[in-house]
Amino acid sequence: MTQAPNQGTSPKEKKSLNWAELGFSYHATDYRFRAVHRNGQWSEGELITENTIVAHEGAPALHYAQQCFEGLKAQTAPDGRVLLFRPELNAERMRQAAGRLLMPEVPESLFIRGVEEAVRANYAWIPPHGSGAALYIRPMLIGLGENLGLKTANEFEFRVFVSPVGPYYKSAGLAVISLAVSELDRAAPSGTGNYKIGANYAGGLLATRMAQQLGANEALYLDARERKYIDEAGSANIVVSMKNGSFVTPGSNAVLPSVTRRSIMTLAEQELDLSIEQRAINLREELPDFEEVAACGTAAVISPVGKIWVDDQWHRFYGNGEEAGPVMKRLYELLVGIQRGETDDKF
Ligand code: COI
Repeated sequence: MTQAPNQGTSPKEKKSLNWAELGFSYHATDYRFRAVHRNGQWSEGELITENTIVAHEGAPALHYAQQCFEGLKAQTAPDGRVLLFRPELNAERMRQAAGRLLMPEVPESLFIRGVEEAVRANYAWIPPHGSGAALYIRPMLIGLGENLGLKTANEFEFRVFVSPVGPYYKSAGLAVISLAVSELDRAAPSGTGNYKIGANYAGGLLATRMAQQLGANEALYLDARERKYIDEAGSANIVVSMKNGSFVTPGSNAVLPSVTRRSIMTLAEQELDLSIEQRAINLREELPDFEEVAACGTAAVISPVGKIWVDDQWHRFYGNGEEAGPVMKRLYELLVGIQRGETDDKF
């Protein structure tokens, strides 16, 4: 856990928001961090107040989706410290995405400084401890500059903005959600599914809409090669607590390597004594063995999945699909306890 220093340019008073009522939406804050990459060099970086980006109409980010982004949260501990959860892992994931899309790497030091400065400068917008809300941090790396042909940009911007947020799914805390297996694929086997890039998400908008038309919150993607194995839910990874006591997550290399999932797997093994496995999960064959299912990610935290729509019918899990089961409840408490500084981070 990294502590973001909270002495900064902004006043110490908090904004008077109804923190507990916040949803997951953009809320303009006072400052954002920006650094630009020109002629092979990153600028020092600075805090700015302008919440728009001026892009050339030929910018590769706009035409060819040459961009990647991250998501992490800052939370207030009971003693008032402001905590970031594993920001170095987000820096590394952005480094990987930049390499995949032929963009310049954002050095870890610049990434962390950008995140910390954006958080510190917006101290007044960081939800207080106990509110259930958090400050969501969105670092982005985008290809700018004049261009037309399919080639890498000649100028890049690293931008970090923040927004106070509540739960990703509507109700507070542990919302039970539902998924519907998508007829569309999210990612090709050797494509870009394991990188946090905008292109993976735009392609999922229609799948999400189709899932919502079936009454589900989100689409559930199967592997694109055989349409048998669970990949992920587009906005979140999947974990399954099996009836035999094992705790499983897909081994697919087409899913986003979520920082939250990594922590949940560790907690499941070390705190709940579950035997963890990262392997292919054959949805139709293994459905009867599922005890509890959850979607997980920075935004989703751990959202128990009560039911999944597969082959024209709902398959329900713990509590007839209406309530969170004990394993996911416990993992949620353990994870948010660490993220909010209520329990020791010994991992
Ligand atoms: C996150 O969990 O941070 C994400 O970026 C997912 C996004 C769909 C909100």
